[in-house]
Formats: sequence, structure tokens, C-alpha cells
Amino acid sequence: MKVLKRVLKWITGAILVLLLLAFLVGLIAYWRSTNDCGKAGAPTNPMKAIVYCDYGVANLKLEEIEKPAPSDDQILVRVRAASINPYDWHFVEGTPYVMRAMGVGLRKPKDTRLGVDFAGTVEAVGKNVTQFKPGDEVFGGRGGAFAQYVCPRATRAVALKPANVSFEEAASVNIAAITALQALRDKGKVQPGQKVLINGASGGVGTFAVQIAKSLGADVTGVCSTRNVDLVKSLGADHIIDYTKEDFTKGAERYDVMLDNVGNHSLSECKGVLTPTGKYVLIGGGGASDQGFLGGLGKALWAMVFSKFVNQQMGMMMADANHNDLTILADMMQSGKLKPVIDRTYKLDQVPDAIRYVEQGHARGKVVITVE
Ligand SMILES: NC(=O)c1ccc[n+]([C@@H]2O[C@H](COP(=O)([O-])OP(=O)(O)OC[C@H]3O[C@@H](n4cnc5c(N)ncnc54)[C@H](OP(=O)(O)O)[C@@H]3O)[C@@H](O)[C@H]2O)c1
Repeated sequence: MKVLKRVLKWITGAILVLLLLAFLVGLIAYWRSTNDCGKAGAPTNPMKAIVYCDYGVANLKLEEIEKPAPSDDQILVRVRAASINPYDWHFVEGTPYVMRAMGVGLRKPKDTRLGVDFAGTVEAVGKNVTQFKPGDEVFGGRGGAFAQYVCPRATRAVALKPANVSFEEAASVNIAAITALQALRDKGKVQPGQKVLINGASGGVGTFAVQIAKSLGADVTGVCSTRNVDLVKSLGADHIIDYTKEDFTKGAERYDVMLDNVGNHSLSECKGVLTPTGKYVLIGGGGASDQGFLGGLGKALWAMVFSKFVNQQMGMMMADANHNDLTILADMMQSGKLKPVIDRTYKLDQVPDAIRYVEQGHARGKVVITVE
């Protein structure tokens, strides 16, 4: 008995020491967490870019920084337009907080540049680049897109912009349309004639998703609020559920594929309106003010467990931006099958206002930044 007590005492002591050590390591890592703000001298070849040294929209600033030079595999693009995604405010706010521990920066953002989606004109190409030439109009995704110039790798998320598509429209595409395409085509495996429900049909992803689901031959139901009913109908939705009047999880209809851009219903409620072999694709959810530690990741983790106990496939998807899918989307835009919906545009120095607007969670289509 005495020995057992001594062992228990020893284990408790060891656990307490480990917890104290973890706490101290965390504290040191927190205080050591920094970024390159204030370390660079005056730029020799300046360009304007949005920079943030600390978390929070109030800390976003338009500054002059060094214009990038393309490496052998990169192209230099003069940005004409960029677009905002919820992805951007996650980085601005550093939420859900787990992101900070996963390398985004515990106390301050490690990467002080912002924005991903862009469209613009190629100004120079690296010596290994054969796919693009100066003068080409391109669009895609590259970190630090809220700037006058970006240098994406030629083989990554960049493609030629169709001539009949504006820079503003093309800049809307990368994250939102690729997410909609991969969620419906690859995860949902949507087949002609299938019933597809899109929860959050009026937002950045939703407005692309309705059109893509239609082009895949689906019978599409869009869930949106009263003010967006006409918009979602005009995108081709066959049926509309106004979420201010009706709860789609209480309806009699059963869906082969559900794309959930909002995540405001429980997994069992969503399962209840899937066909026996239906697929539920969660892409996100949660507003800027209610992210907490895990944000939408909590639901994604729960979906991994939940899906083991049901017949339907239910899970979260992370989009993977790439050249081939951008080219598919470019072809769809060129042929008129896909038309980006632009809610409003802001100038580069108004990025903070644009982020604040998207943070409210009520964008109608995409919010675009024009760059001079
Ligand atoms: N996993 C990925 O790879 C990935 C990629 C892109 C985006 N995401 C995530 O996906 C989510 C959607 O992105 P987004 O770009 O489409 O966002 P967004 O443009 O900000 O979406 C706003 C739209 O959501 C609608 N909405 C809000 N509450 C709703 C409700 N209860 N029911 C139906 N619609 C509602 C709003 O309509 P009302 O104004 O009418 O309310 C608005 O039109 C975000 O959480 C984002 O972080 C994930």
C-alpha cells in the first residue's frame, strides 16, 4: 500500500513538472514569436502593399515595401485586382487560436503580408518559365496578393485569364471557385440528375457552387436569405429555401450531395436530409466573432468520428488551388457557363474596410480590391 502511494505521488509530481515545463516553453515561445516588422530598411525598388505587424484589422497598413523579383521558376505579375476571402480574416485575426500554435504566429503574425487571390498582367518571367510571357493576362493565388506585384510559381496556382473576363471577375475565382469545384466534383462526385443542396448559396463559394452544380447537371437547391432569393435563382438554382422562413433540415426532400458553406446545423440534422448514400461536404463555418480556439475545426474533427457510424460520407474538405482547375474554371468563364458575382469593390488602401465587411458574413458573391 505504501509503495503504491509512493508511486502515485511520484507520477503526480512528474505530471506537474511536465505541465510546468510545457507552460514555460509555451510562454517563452509566445514572447519570442515575432516577425520582420521594422527590420527592413527603406525599399530600393518600392511597391505598395498591405502589411500587418500585429493581429487585428486596425493594424492593417498600406506601406511601401521592396518590389519582389521573380526567381527562375516564377513570374512577376502586376496586380490589377485581388479578392477577399474569409481565409484572409482568419489570418488578420489569428483565429481560431489553434492556427497561431500551428505556425501562423503565437503573439504576432509570422507572415506580415496578406491576400491570396489576384489577377493581373505578367511583367517579367524567370529563365525556366515557358508557360507565360510578359504581357499575358493571368489570374490565380499567391500569398501577399494585396499588393501592386506578386511572384507566383509558373507551375502552381496561376492560369491565363480569358479575354472576355475582367480582372475583377478573374480575381474572384481562385479560392472560392476552386473550393466549389473540388467540393462538388471531387468530394461530392455530383452526377447529372442528382439533387444537390448548397447551404450558403449567396456567398463567395456559394455563388460559384450553384453555377458549377448546374453545369454538372444537378438539380440544385440553394439556401439563402430573402434578399438573396432573386440572385441565387438568377444563377440557375432550381429551388430556393429562404433560411429566414424555413429550416432545410426539417423538410421532406432528401439530397444526394450537400455542400455546407455555413455549418450552422448539427451533423445529425444534416444527415437526416441526405439520401442513404448521400454525401455531406463541409467547407467551413463560423463567423469572425465566434472562432474561439478551434473554430470550424471542431465540427470537422467531430465529422471524422461521426462519419464512422453512418452510411453517408460526411467530412470536411480543404481546397487545393492548382493550375489545372484554374484552367477548367477559365474555360467555363470563357464559354459563359460561369460568371463571378461581384458584391462590391474597394481600393487597395481600403482593404481594412473590405475585410471588416466580409467579416460580417453577409457578402453577396465576392468582394474585390482594385489595384492601381
Ligand atoms: N475548406 C476550404 O478550403 C474553404 C475554402 C473557402 C472558404 N471556406 C470557408 O467556407 C465558408 C464560406 O466561404 P465564403 O467565401 O462563401 O464566405 P462568405 O462569402 O463570407 O459567405 C457569406 C454568405 O453566407 C451567407 N449566410 C450567412 N448565414 C447563413 C445561413 N444561416 N444560411 C445560409 N446562408 C448564410 C450570407 O447570406 P446572408 O447575407 O443572406 O445571410 C452570405 O451571402 C467560410 O467559413 C470560409 O472560411 C473554406
